[in-house]
Amino acid sequence: MPGGRIPDDFIQDLLARTDIVSVIEGRVDLKRAGREYMGLCPFHSEKTPSFTVSPQKQFYHCFGCGAHGSAIGFLMDFDRLEFVDAIEELAKTAGMEVPRTAATGPRPDESLYGILAEAEQFFRSTLKQSPGAIEYLKERGLSGELAGQFRLGAAPSGWQGLTDALGTSPERLKLLERAGLITAKDTGGYYDKFRGRIIFPIHDMRGRPLAFGGRIYGDESGPKYLNSPETELFHKGRELYGLYEARQAVGPLKRLLVVEGYMDVLALAQFDLPETVATLGTATTEEHAALLFRSASEVVFCFDGDQAGRRAARRAMQSTLGQMSEGRQVRFLFVPDGEDPDSLVRSEGADGLRDRIEQAIPFSEFFFGQYRAEVDMSSLDGRSRLVELARPELEKLPAGSFRDMMFERLSELARTRVGVGGPPRRPMSPGAKPGARVSLVRSAIRAIVQAPGLAAEIEVPSEVRKLDYAGLELLLDLLTWAGDHPEATTAQLLERYAEHPHAKALAKLAGEGLLTDDDKLRLELAGALRGLERRAIKRRLENLQSSELGEIGELHRRLRELEALG
Ligand code: UTP
Ligand code: MN
Repeated sequence: MPGGRIPDDFIQDLLARTDIVSVIEGRVDLKRAGREYMGLCPFHSEKTPSFTVSPQKQFYHCFGCGAHGSAIGFLMDFDRLEFVDAIEELAKTAGMEVPRTAATGPRPDESLYGILAEAEQFFRSTLKQSPGAIEYLKERGLSGELAGQFRLGAAPSGWQGLTDALGTSPERLKLLERAGLITAKDTGGYYDKFRGRIIFPIHDMRGRPLAFGGRIYGDESGPKYLNSPETELFHKGRELYGLYEARQAVGPLKRLLVVEGYMDVLALAQFDLPETVATLGTATTEEHAALLFRSASEVVFCFDGDQAGRRAARRAMQSTLGQMSEGRQVRFLFVPDGEDPDSLVRSEGADGLRDRIEQAIPFSEFFFGQYRAEVDMSSLDGRSRLVELARPELEKLPAGSFRDMMFERLSELARTRVGVGGPPRRPMSPGAKPGARVSLVRSAIRAIVQAPGLAAEIEVPSEVRKLDYAGLELLLDLLTWAGDHPEATTAQLLERYAEHPHAKALAKLAGEGLLTDDDKLRLELAGALRGLERRAIKRRLENLQSSELGEIGELHRRLRELEALG
């Protein structure tokens, strides 16, 4: 782990004070099912829930794709956070301060995040002192409240406002340059990148500004919009404007509307359609698609009705192909010439736009529609060309009924049977191999990982300690640790062993048959230990028998012990 190591004790404490259900609930719709919570897995597409969250174990597991982990792991995967960031996020909620060791100093990224946050503050206070900028936002129908929610700002119109205010040392100037906020002059010194613009901060999932967009207002010259350049932290193909704000406003999202402009996002949010995000002046990438589907199962792309808009829609369609499976929906909404979502919502109101969203073109229709415009469907040659064009695209669809239906539709349109190409199968949940004989050590470890509290109830037979089975050392270690920490949850145990060479295997075991209750686990553990004891005694017996000095007395005693165990 780069940078300041976070003490293990702190992580244990943090997990003890964190409730995984409330962490996940804010991001995924969960329903109570007995002692667990279930919902649609955010890490793969599905129609019936196989994503399980156990409050008791403080652990989540998906029976469909095998995803699993603690609250920390969930934040890392779902919010795409680094380990330390996930810890900090949880600590913030729990009201704890993350301790750091002095020796390591701050992580390098932290200073970059820090300067970006300072810049956001600077732009916000500049907005408050810029009547012209405030007037502009008002004219565009945005409230002060909304501006606050999106943390809008303004860049002063001079060349050095930000440079002078924040670039107070050579190091800070370098940071500002790395953050993409200032540019070095040939003649030495720096100048502000954003001048005389309304500023739109682009936030990551934790609400930290990574970059900025700026729109010209007043009499400034230059392009209408300016974005931060790509930096160490900002890659425009990976970020969506407004996603953080949408999640803050709505919580778990069912549907996301994807538009082209900052102003569209703001206008729709102002009109009570906060589930809107924008790509940042780029085509929709596969990373965007993955990010969109992680937040919502239905995505509506909104593009201009002109040629450029259709082209953009095609790109978006191609980027989502690999993720389109059951339970996920993509539709396309084309806005009339000369309009954009901002102007539409102002002329037709939120309900007008909602109607348009309801009537948006389904993925399949758009997909086949574009080819039908290209080829002559009335000729055999044309229909064979259709198959040629569509088939490689459809092969990118994940296995499932949507894929099958798309192939069926292609067959219909081509008036021929188009075989379904070999679908890329998802790997089944790791770990659980039905029929595979579970070794005794493995099953004992599994029980302890899933119910660490059991360790306090049992005593390890001393014979067992003498065995040299693979994994036994780990089992004994786990039993000792769990015995000393009778309140520990699965999540805490896993974090404690996160650096262990078998950490991955432990996490898998934690997810295996997660629903088994403690009584079953207790029996499993007792059974496994008894089995190990039998083996240990048997082995001792064999040694005695083969040893010339075998003591008959001990042989008898061992035999009786073995019989007693049954
Ligand atoms: P539009 O030109 O459609 O502007 O650009 P808009 O969103 O309707 O903005 P307003 O209503 O005139 O204020 C759409 C998006 O394309 C990118 C920006 O991300 C913008 O939001 N863009 C546009 C640029 O990056 N640079 C430009 O010069 C123009
Ligand atoms: Mn516009």
